[in-house]
Amino acid sequence: MASVKKILAIVVLIQCATLSESSRMLEKKKKKTDGNTFNVISFGAVGDGVEDDSKGFKDAWNAACGSSASSPMVVVPQGKTFLLQPLTLDGECNSNNFTFQIDGNIIAPSEPSAWERKRNCHHWIGFKNFDGLFIQGSGTINGHGSKWWKLSCKDKNKGCHFRKPTGFMIANSKNVEIKGLTFEDSPKMHIAFENSISIHATDLTIKAPGNSPNTDGIHIQRSTNVTIDKTIIQTGDDCISIGPDTKNTLILETSNVVQVMESALAALELSDMNVEFVHVINVSFYGTTNGVRIKT
Ligand SMILES: *[C@@H]1O[C@H](CO)[C@@H](O)[C@H](O)[C@H]1NC(C)=O
Ligand SMILES: *[C@@H]1O[C@H](CO)[C@@H](O)[C@H](O)[C@H]1NC(C)=O
Ligand SMILES: *[C@@H]1O[C@H](CO)[C@@H](O)[C@H](O)[C@H]1NC(C)=O
Repeated sequence: MASVKKILAIVVLIQCATLSESSRMLEKKKKKTDGNTFNVISFGAVGDGVEDDSKGFKDAWNAACGSSASSPMVVVPQGKTFLLQPLTLDGECNSNNFTFQIDGNIIAPSEPSAWERKRNCHHWIGFKNFDGLFIQGSGTINGHGSKWWKLSCKDKNKGCHFRKPTGFMIANSKNVEIKGLTFEDSPKMHIAFENSISIHATDLTIKAPGNSPNTDGIHIQRSTNVTIDKTIIQTGDDCISIGPDTKNTLILETSNVVQVMESALAALELSDMNVEFVHVINVSFYGTTNGVRIKT
């Protein structure tokens, strides 16, 4: 009888320990997430522009993705600069209405050799498989492309080990809005929308020097219902390029500036492969060789 009591007591003790452990974890989780907000700093990102913050971003994203909050928000706070290695976030999650509030700055490693996955690196920051994604804020996303621009990949046999990455990609997604951000100095094109439906890009600024090669502003392909408005694009290559299988693109109140005078560059370049219903309304072109160019 006595020994049974003892065992009971031990069981109760263990249960207490487990309970306080889980309430501690709950406490910790609460602190980290503050309800539906997932601040990358709470997940270990430092934001000094030197330390690699990729893990903090990934962990914040995994927590947001796994949370049961109805509209989780990942916060990249103001006044800090976060260094990111190539990172792709997959939107197949519990919720389907995510906000990324990006008021801090995000930078890529400045040496191409410091990039992880430097061979065949398709893009730097990617979002895929989202339905309901809102990316907004006053932050600047800088791809530190200047060293990449000097690498020529025209002759693959002459020591070219690098496929230049696209800066920022949205793929296989629906109902996406990108608002307010500044994109600078991408290694290759700044923003790409691929295989997506219903994207609204608004109030963006996209900038790269006039002599930076292949730094298109926004590239759209295999996508439907893309609207770009109130955006300023000033790059070294086409401002907006529209690739194959793209329908219903609306571009309005946007300033497109191409700084370099070379015949291949346009404010708006269209592929002739299954591109339908492109509307351009109240758009200003400055310094471009071609305003609108249809590639055939
Ligand atoms: C999605 O999230 C945003 C920002 O939190 C919110 O304003 C909006 O109402 C949400 N939409 C839905 C359908 O939950
Ligand atoms: C694109 O937008 C139009 C007009 O709002 C809508 O009728 C159409 O269904 C949309 N297409 C897709 C593929 O969502
Ligand atoms: C054209 O765009 C300019 C600049 O964004 C804006 O101020 C103006 O109201 C627009 N005009 C029309 C007719 O939409």
